Amino acid sequence: MTSRTDLSQLSLAEKAALGSGADFWTSRAIGPVPALTLTDGPHGVRRQTGATDHLGLAGSEPATCFPPAVGLANSWDPGLVRRVGEALGREARVLGVDVLLGPGVNIKRDPRGGRNFEYYSEDPLLTGRLGAAWVGGVQSAGVGASLKHFAANNAEHDRMRASSDIDPRPLREIYLRAFSHIVRTARPWTVMCSYNRINGVSAAQNRWLLTDLLRGEWGFDGVVVSDWGAVVDRPASVAAGLDLAMPGGPGAGDDRVVAAVEAGALDEAAVTAAATNVAGLAERIHQARTRTVDEPGGTAAASEQTDPGAHSEENTGSGVSGGLADTHHRLAREAAARCVVLLQNDRDLLPLTPGRNIAVIGPFAAEPRYQGGGSSHVTATRIDSPLAEIRALGGDTVTYHPGFTVTTGDADPADLRDEAVAAARDAEVAVVFLGLAADQESEGFDRDHLELPAEQLELLAAVAREQPDTVVVLAHGGVLRLEPVARLAPAVLDGALLGQAGGGALADVLFGVVNPSGRLAETVPVRLQDTPAYLNFPGENSHVRYGEGLFVGYRWYDARDLDVCYPFGHGLSYTGFGYSGLSAGPAGDGFTVRLTVTNTGTRPGREVVQIYTGVPDSAVQRPVRALTGTAVTGELAPGASEQVTIDVLREDLAYWETRIGRWVLEPGTYRVWAGASSRDLRADIDIDLAGDTLRIPITLDSTLGEAMADPRAAAALSAVFGEMADSMGSGDALGVDMMRMIASIPLNRLALFGMASEQLDALLAAANTTPPDSGERAD
Ligand code: BGC
Repeated sequence: MTSRTDLSQLSLAEKAALGSGADFWTSRAIGPVPALTLTDGPHGVRRQTGATDHLGLAGSEPATCFPPAVGLANSWDPGLVRRVGEALGREARVLGVDVLLGPGVNIKRDPRGGRNFEYYSEDPLLTGRLGAAWVGGVQSAGVGASLKHFAANNAEHDRMRASSDIDPRPLREIYLRAFSHIVRTARPWTVMCSYNRINGVSAAQNRWLLTDLLRGEWGFDGVVVSDWGAVVDRPASVAAGLDLAMPGGPGAGDDRVVAAVEAGALDEAAVTAAATNVAGLAERIHQARTRTVDEPGGTAAASEQTDPGAHSEENTGSGVSGGLADTHHRLAREAAARCVVLLQNDRDLLPLTPGRNIAVIGPFAAEPRYQGGGSSHVTATRIDSPLAEIRALGGDTVTYHPGFTVTTGDADPADLRDEAVAAARDAEVAVVFLGLAADQESEGFDRDHLELPAEQLELLAAVAREQPDTVVVLAHGGVLRLEPVARLAPAVLDGALLGQAGGGALADVLFGVVNPSGRLAETVPVRLQDTPAYLNFPGENSHVRYGEGLFVGYRWYDARDLDVCYPFGHGLSYTGFGYSGLSAGPAGDGFTVRLTVTNTGTRPGREVVQIYTGVPDSAVQRPVRALTGTAVTGELAPGASEQVTIDVLREDLAYWETRIGRWVLEPGTYRVWAGASSRDLRADIDIDLAGDTLRIPITLDSTLGEAMADPRAAAALSAVFGEMADSMGSGDALGVDMMRMIASIPLNRLALFGMASEQLDALLAAANTTPPDSGERAD
């Protein structure tokens, strides 16, 4: 990053000190550079003014708890996520925070991952679009985002040590893709490196990751901050491109940085570069705040001071309150309602009619589970009780029965169950809240199964036996095995984690005040044994082999043609939508898809359109289809239509060609599907793309088959071999089996058959000459 702050007067020790924290949540004020406050994130501002920790132990000032990423992602709506980001930015300003530690954009590789609640999706495109929107929203308020955890942090087990061992294609195409998209399009002011190793090298000491890729290839110009406690060898981290080691304290290693420079083991330029980046971040924050204050109308945060670092004192310690808290609670409710997924709705059981006798069952109805555990845990400004909100909309014919306990208590489980079952029988409909308690999933550990507690399933079975009109409402951070629920309950609403206003949002959806439009951002498998990483999770001896390669999430289930319980992208509505007029036309290197979506039902609603693309005749391994575009319609009245236009970009079509270390857009026919889920494909169309000319250098190790497939090498071979090569080029002449055998002979073996080395050299030279007008791409 460039910085106009003059650091020339700073000593080496002062520059080194700028690269580590003053304490748990702040960087140091040194010379002209002010201290900056960084804090979690991502779904609320976790501003601690008393005891500090990054484990979710001590409290924090009240702030709005928006839906965590697991819920928010189910909206599939970057516009909504941006608004949540703006609100988070405003609260960060009020609470004196300069950098909010989010978004978490790691891919949900395995449903057992303990931190999946903090990540968006199993799909990189959806993750990238939502993460970019979050960054844009937060930074529009003059608060830096911290894109995390860079990179390949897909499990909690052994997270500070384990190496994520990933082949180049999945690394690029799955695990780095969202990071790349967000860095290049939303330009986060900071990136947080992860705890884990990537292919053996610690992220915090990984020069390829932090410098060559992040800054070199993607053009990142902000601050690389460490995850809290990720740095063990500070000089090595500085050399790799890490700017700010957090948290601070005596162990931060400033003295080791100085000693390394003095010993000639570390270039002082690296220390200066890190200090300059930190100074640049402070300037950037100041400039953004000056801009937002100067703008007509400003932002809601415009009344706050503009100087970073100077505001800890201004923070009154009362958290977010008053009108801002009210406004943001309403936004949290709107957002949460957009995240609820209607998984099934047999006999149109939902929406419920107010005034009916409704038995609400399950302690999560009275005390909702609304956020995950660990560093992201925030103190909400208020918490909507689903039960109270259901009563507010449903009337006083709503009764409540715990039915089971989430913690072992005095109550006899059998008594609780019998009472709830009797109430369900006497009511007209039962609404059963099921889910995982806070101690069953969290940052810091992975689950070892996907099951709901047996007690809850037994209760559901007993209720459903007595009451055919049973609705299940789910709360959980990680995916659950839902086959028993799907079998027992005609209607299922998935809330995942919805934040502090989830109770009101669920009531809105249950009674049809809001027509659900949420879609699953993660597949619900039939059973754990079907999942892609089942045999490679969580690894062994601090190595996790990403053996499923590219086939993560729906890419796996589709390639293996496996049944799933609910597919990626699934979600029903109280109305129906028709898709018509699908077309695809070239646009840039990619194409533009157009279609018309019509509300064919009787209620207003919005549809989430999903574009998937495949290359049926691809020369490389590919998923059957992958998400390459999405759009959320506006709220369509019954009978109304909307023209949807989606640009499918080169970056989302290209594959990483390992032989030349570049992205390549394969020429050929692409199949484009428009769907309401990854398994509800409504229309498809083919489009031909010119793509890139792929030139793999021909070497002595190339086979005859590879050489013959390359026009220039084939021409050169013909010249050398004359008729022999001609006949080798014809499967008929030699027979297909003979051709296949000959095709696998490497060129360097031709010497054994009498070819002179000069001939081979001439062949390679001719094959590898690039004609001036080849039109090959450099990227
Ligand atoms: C987490 C980060 C978090 C940091 C500060 C770490 O343990 O991995 O996501 O931002 O603590 O709380």
